[in-house]
Amino acid sequence: MTPLQPPMGLIAELTHRCPLQCAYCSNPLAMDRPEDELTTQDWLRVLDQAAEIGVLQVHFSGGEPMARRDLVQLVAHAAARDLYTNIITSGVLLTDAAMAELLVAGIDHIQLSFQDSRAPEAERIGGYKGGHAKKLDAARRIREAGLPLTANFVLHKQNAERVEEMIALGEDLQAERIEIAHTQYYGWALLNRNALLPSVAQLEHVNRAVAAARERLKGRVVIDYVVPDYYAARPKPCMGGWARRFINISPSGKALPCHAAETLPGFTFPSVRDTSLQAIWNESDAFLRFRGTEWMPELCRTCDRREIDWGGCRCQALALSGDASATDPACARSPHHDLVTEAAAAAEGAPLDLVPRRLHGHST
Ligand code: SF4
Ligand code: FES
Repeated sequence: MTPLQPPMGLIAELTHRCPLQCAYCSNPLAMDRPEDELTTQDWLRVLDQAAEIGVLQVHFSGGEPMARRDLVQLVAHAAARDLYTNIITSGVLLTDAAMAELLVAGIDHIQLSFQDSRAPEAERIGGYKGGHAKKLDAARRIREAGLPLTANFVLHKQNAERVEEMIALGEDLQAERIEIAHTQYYGWALLNRNALLPSVAQLEHVNRAVAAARERLKGRVVIDYVVPDYYAARPKPCMGGWARRFINISPSGKALPCHAAETLPGFTFPSVRDTSLQAIWNESDAFLRFRGTEWMPELCRTCDRREIDWGGCRCQALALSGDASATDPACARSPHHDLVTEAAAAAEGAPLDLVPRRLHGHST
């Protein structure tokens, strides 16, 4: 087996606060409260430890990372430690002043999320009036600052027919990279699955559009494409394999192998408040539990893809089959695969009503 490397990336979920209410949000249903968030000093210490153990990239994420007042300070600190810095943002708070401060701090890259190619549809899904225009402004600021831009579009049943328009928008905005990502059905998105899961015909349309755009834009724009697990014969290697490439830190400081890991029962996730990143990565039960292949059910352990997809997604295995250590039901070989095919069938023709994301719990 491949020897254990240091984590490539640290995903710093600075806050769960967010001005948007995307119905496809894959963050957990129970979010961390602002008063429980790590302090600036905590994050500075975590960034120092990340550099010490050989992390290469820090992705400042959320929620909306720009909702934290200390974001510029954290970016500057990470950059001073030679960490590659990326912000994953909705862009609605990226004013001229914020952009200027981030540039001075040494930001390397910004990933901007879009809900659609058209404002009314985008704002319906994101629940933020005027948000689309702000995102267009943010994209212009990023490019004028000379920074690389990734434009991210999350696809689902209610916008899949506009995939060509989304790619064209990414081109207009001069994005280096366009990410076309089908919704991942964890967290809040699972609640809205019937209203979001595309049909087979929609999926085929998107596949064709992405293939044509890749051909047309070859050498100019990179197009990343994340297919929906529910129609793939084999699962994706979620997070590049459990605890193999990333450490995710929740707003309150829990160290997680993925952002949905807190849904898994029977785990005590270590906190960066009292445990070093090095101990978390090398010694904690939570990170060791599903790392590698030893934990796998027989089906995966004897499969020639075991070190390619690492058995798929643990959180999806739990959410669909009730067993976090089962083969991901997205795999056509899984005994639970019918759960996925039945869900896809149930979504065909289902009502399009959505439950918008809310910060604390299910109801207002
Ligand atoms: Fe991956 Fe397991 Fe399916 Fe093999 S059986 S393809 S290892 S999920
Ligand atoms: Fe947790 Fe895939 S989201 S392992």
